[in-house]
Amino acid sequence: MKNIYSNIYKPTLKNLRKAKKNIENNNLIGLPTETVYGLAANAYSDKSVKKIYKMKKRPSINPLIIHFNDIKLLKENSVFDETFLKLYKAFCPGPITFILNKSSQSKISKKATAGKKTIAVRFPEHLAARKLLKILNIPLAAPSANISSKLSPTCANDVLDEFGNKIKLILDGGRCKIGVESTIVDLTGKPKILRAGFITAEKIYKILGKKIFVEKKAKTIKSPGQLNLHYSPGIPVYINKSGPKKDGAFITFGNKFKNGTNYFNLSKKSNLKEAANNLYKIMRIIKKSKFKSISICRIPNSGLGVAINDRLKKAAYK
Ligand code: TXA
Ligand code: MG
Repeated sequence: MKNIYSNIYKPTLKNLRKAKKNIENNNLIGLPTETVYGLAANAYSDKSVKKIYKMKKRPSINPLIIHFNDIKLLKENSVFDETFLKLYKAFCPGPITFILNKSSQSKISKKATAGKKTIAVRFPEHLAARKLLKILNIPLAAPSANISSKLSPTCANDVLDEFGNKIKLILDGGRCKIGVESTIVDLTGKPKILRAGFITAEKIYKILGKKIFVEKKAKTIKSPGQLNLHYSPGIPVYINKSGPKKDGAFITFGNKFKNGTNYFNLSKKSNLKEAANNLYKIMRIIKKSKFKSISICRIPNSGLGVAINDRLKKAAYK
């Protein structure tokens, strides 16, 4: 019988070389990062990037994040200024993505940036991702490794659940330290947060010394992935509730809720980092346990709670 885990590999040097070969041969790989797992391809190759859209069933108008090891390869692909450098020094490598202007000589596939004049760049902190980017010396286009509009994967097995053996190789970098996607900051005009994440508006404000705008609702298709239903576990999600629906599960936070077989606590200690880390994991468990819906209590809307509420609102979109 075929071993279903045969495409999951520990990120040893030998396996990183195997991953490199796959990328060079225009194959897709599962890439661990500190936020969520990515579905990665050679960002210079149209052929590779096309495979991402196809496998994820992602609309081709929704651009991908391009992952770099450091600033070296960025220089020939984008234009950046002091504001970027300040944030880069403060937070990178780490869970933040910058929208910059693409440079005219950029070799990044136009399909990866969906024909836009801008480019989303990120410098992941996860050691396996960094090692791979270093030996590759090619940037990686990598959206979250899930079918479009579904939950992001936070461990190698989640990637396997999404795509099975359609991906030749998934690097197993353990469970993601953060567990929700990176903060996206648009630096092409006045700095603006397009997607909340671990790096909060307050942290950015401290570095820049000036207020940063937070996009409440994307009006134009600036970040198409941020519109409508997203981060969906595939069953209805109800937010700000005080208990489960019939045959449904209830996600709680803090210690004021009772226990029960259909109760799942994001963080008994009311710790928002722990809650963010458990969010997708618990939603996946609930879905697999065949509950019919997910109700969830109110989550404080401060710090990392902003990112959690952003994801929940979109998961609950009707
Ligand atoms: O943490 C993360 O960011 C993960 C890991 C794998 O790095 N990646 C991730 O990628 O969340 P994805 O494709 O699931 O989300 C990227 C978001 C999308 O909403 C997309 O619309 C937006 O970034 N985006 C990409 N390029 C953009 C651009 N040029 N302007 C505005 N938004 C952009
Ligand atoms: Mg995604």
